Amino acid sequence: MATRAVGFALRLSPGRASLRKPLAVRCFSIDPYDGGQDPYSPGRSKSRFDDSGRDFRGQGRSDGGRSDGGRFDRGKDFGGRRGYDTPLTGGSMPDRMGSLGQNLKHMNWQQEELVNVQKNFYKEHPEIAAMTEQQVAESLKALNANIEGRKPHPRPVTRFDCIGLPEDLLQTVKGAGFDQPTPIQAVGWPAALSGRDMVGIAQTGSGKTLAYLLPGLIHIAEQPALLAGDGPIALVMAPTRELAMQIHSEVMRFTDGSRIRSTAVFGGVNRYSQASDLRRGVEILIATPGRLLDFLESGTTNLKRVTYLNLDEADRMLDMGFEPQIRKVVSQIRPDRQTLMWSATWPKEIQRLARDFCREETP
Ligand SMILES: Nc1ncnc2c1ncn2[C@@H]1O[C@H](COP(=O)(O)OP(=O)(O)OP(=O)(O)O)[C@@H](O)[C@H]1O
Ligand SMILES: [Mg+2]
Repeated sequence: MATRAVGFALRLSPGRASLRKPLAVRCFSIDPYDGGQDPYSPGRSKSRFDDSGRDFRGQGRSDGGRSDGGRFDRGKDFGGRRGYDTPLTGGSMPDRMGSLGQNLKHMNWQQEELVNVQKNFYKEHPEIAAMTEQQVAESLKALNANIEGRKPHPRPVTRFDCIGLPEDLLQTVKGAGFDQPTPIQAVGWPAALSGRDMVGIAQTGSGKTLAYLLPGLIHIAEQPALLAGDGPIALVMAPTRELAMQIHSEVMRFTDGSRIRSTAVFGGVNRYSQASDLRRGVEILIATPGRLLDFLESGTTNLKRVTYLNLDEADRMLDMGFEPQIRKVVSQIRPDRQTLMWSATWPKEIQRLARDFCREETP
C-alpha cells in the first residue's frame, strides 16, 4: 500500500503522490479460519471471490464468522452477533443504491479553502526507542505480526503507557479492564499516530476499533476546533447498521466526559435525529455508505474537514457491493487526509482499494 511516511508531508495534489505498496500490518494471533494462516497469504490458492461467489468466511459458522473464542468479547449489548447473515443496510441494499450520490458536487481541491492538517503526533517512548532490531523482531514474532510497506516500520508498543496517551484517556483505557494492547493495537497505534496511511488486517474481535479510535482521539485534539457548518474530522465507514452502532458504543465509551461529540448514521431509521446531530456538529461520524451519501446530497453535512478516514470492515463492505458508494464518499474527502483501512482479510480487491485510497509521498 502506499503510505504517507513518517516525516513526509503529503503534497495536496492527488496526482503527485506516488502509489506504492501500502503499509500493511497483519496480526493473526489466533487462527480465524482453519490452518493458523491468513487465507490470503502466499501459498493459499483459494480466492476470496471464488467461482461460486460465496463468502467462505462465514461458511458453516453459526457465529457470523467469529472464531476468536470470545477472547475479546464485545459484550451483550448487541447480542454478540455480527449480523453477517442479515445485512442491515437500512432498507436499501447495494444494488438499489446505484443512483445515490449522483448529485454530489465534484470537488476541486485546489479551489477549496482547507484548514491545515496535523497528522504526526508520535513520539517514540524511550523504552521503545532503545529496543534493538532483534528485540523488535522478537516482539513482532510474539505478536504474530507482519508489516509490509515503506520503512521505517512502526515498532510494536506492548504497553498502554508507551503510546503517549493523555493521562485521562490512559486511565479510561486501564479502567476498561484491558491489560495490554492487542497485537493489532500494538502495531497499529504507532503507525496511525505517526500519520501514516495503513491497512490493518486482523481477525474479528481483535480490537481493531480501539486501534483506530485512540489515535483518532489524539488526531482530533490536535486539529482546529469545529466551526458552525463544519462536518466531522474523523469518519468511520462501516457496512451495516449493527456494526455502526457497535462502533459508536465503543466510541462513546472512550469519549464519555470529553468534549468530543459523535454520532452514527445508518439507514432503516428516521433521518431526523441523525440530521440534527450532524447539523449541531460532531467530531466523529460513523456511517454506512448509503445513508451518508444521502446526507451529503442533501447538504446536511459535508466532508471537507475529514482528515482521519477509516474504512472499517473493508472486506465486508466490498463483499456487500459498496465499492461504488465508498468511492463516491471518498471523492468528497481531501486528498491529504490520513486513510486507514481495517479488514479481517487481505484479498486482492482490498489491496486494490488500498492502493487507490492510501498514499505515500515520493521521497
Ligand atoms: N486491549 C484490549 N484488551 C482487551 N479487550 C479489548 C482490547 N481492545 C479492545 N478490546 C475489546 O475487544 C472487543 C472486540 O473489539 P473490536 O470490536 O474492536 O474488535 P474488531 O477487531 O473490530 O472485531 P470485528 O472484526 O468483529 O469488528 C471489544 O469489546 C473491545 O472493547
Ligand atoms: Mg471491528
